Amino acid sequence: MLGALLWIFFVGLLLCAFLFSKTTKEFPKSWFEWKTEFRYQYIGIVGLVHDAQYKARDRVALYKQADRIAVITGGNRGIGLRIVEKLLACDMTVVMGVRDPKSAETAVASIVDLKTTKGKLICEQLDVGDLNSVKAFAQLIKERYSKVDLLLNNAGIMFAPFKLTADGYESHFAINFLGHFLLTHLLLPQLRAAGKEGKNARIVNVSSCVNLIGRINYKDINGTKNYYPGTAYSQSKLAQILFTRHLQTVLDAEKSHVQVNVVHPGIVDTDLFEHSATTSVPIFKKLFFKTPERGSRTVVFAAIDPSIEGQGGTYLSNGGKGPFHPDARKPAKCEQLFQFSCDLLKIQQYGNGEL
Ligand SMILES: NC(=O)c1ccc[n+]([C@@H]2O[C@H](COP(=O)([O-])OP(=O)(O)OC[C@H]3O[C@@H](n4cnc5c(N)ncnc54)[C@H](OP(=O)(O)O)[C@@H]3O)[C@@H](O)[C@H]2O)c1
Repeated sequence: MLGALLWIFFVGLLLCAFLFSKTTKEFPKSWFEWKTEFRYQYIGIVGLVHDAQYKARDRVALYKQADRIAVITGGNRGIGLRIVEKLLACDMTVVMGVRDPKSAETAVASIVDLKTTKGKLICEQLDVGDLNSVKAFAQLIKERYSKVDLLLNNAGIMFAPFKLTADGYESHFAINFLGHFLLTHLLLPQLRAAGKEGKNARIVNVSSCVNLIGRINYKDINGTKNYYPGTAYSQSKLAQILFTRHLQTVLDAEKSHVQVNVVHPGIVDTDLFEHSATTSVPIFKKLFFKTPERGSRTVVFAAIDPSIEGQGGTYLSNGGKGPFHPDARKPAKCEQLFQFSCDLLKIQQYGNGEL
């Protein structure tokens, strides 16, 4: 009898855990959606275990580098806000590309004393999901700075309902990947100008462990035929990794002093989960997820740590290398996505900063 009760309790617990960590607040409606949910649950659990297992490795040493200019997308909240805090602690000039510059400055001022910090904060308007906004932001940076030392492609959305941007792209693909792909192309001349022998300029793409279950649907990149938010998110996060890997081969071939790395920040307690069922049990996130401060560490590690100088193309997680999608090991797959994106944006020569 006791054994049966324990079983019922255990199965009930598993069911609750499943229901409250679904990627959407709704119930899966098809086998495809159920399968996606199960895959997410598996990746999520592995991610949480990895975060716990490598807690001690997950750190970054900050050092002064007052001559450096960092550009970050987002940064007004979540992981990005803590990245900005760390970059300012290094005395850098930090340019934030944000949707609401005024409130972004207020957000940073709530955790950094902007009157006493030796770092310099500049907040500029940017909607990464709007290609015209990306172009205008890049133009402003080019006019103001002859070099950019760090580009952190951090802004992102997750599990959002289907929406096309003004340019006609599904919002995860547009914001998490394509806008950053364009921004990087436009700022590469400034990054090349900043890098020197032994001190590369760096690009950091903030991806996610769910790249492992991603698939690039070239036939229907917007997912219009069978849209599921989790699928759109994992596709965009895989795209960032394929992009990183191919861009590094391009940078190596031209022998420029620029490196590009890609990071999984960990499973972090931020607003990113607003569309998922986890919001129903906030205590779960508080107990098991990383804090945004901890989530920012590997991103800043990828941006400044001397130990990874010259090691571009690496996928970093919890302060070290992590497992990523097998397609990202295949140069042809990486190049396919790269060329596909160039074609969408009509880029003739990637990285020349021109359109
Ligand atoms: N949290 C996690 O567990 C986790 C795990 C793996 C990867 N990541 C990645 O980490 C990155 C940061 O996520 P987070 O957890 O810090 O999420 P968050 O707290 O929700 O912050 C998202 C940031 O992206 C910005 N953003 C969203 N859409 C934008 C747009 N169209 N234009 C400009 N900025 C936009 C937001 O600005 P607004 O305030 O204007 O919306 C905000 O600054 C994302 O790329 C995410 O995919 C997070």
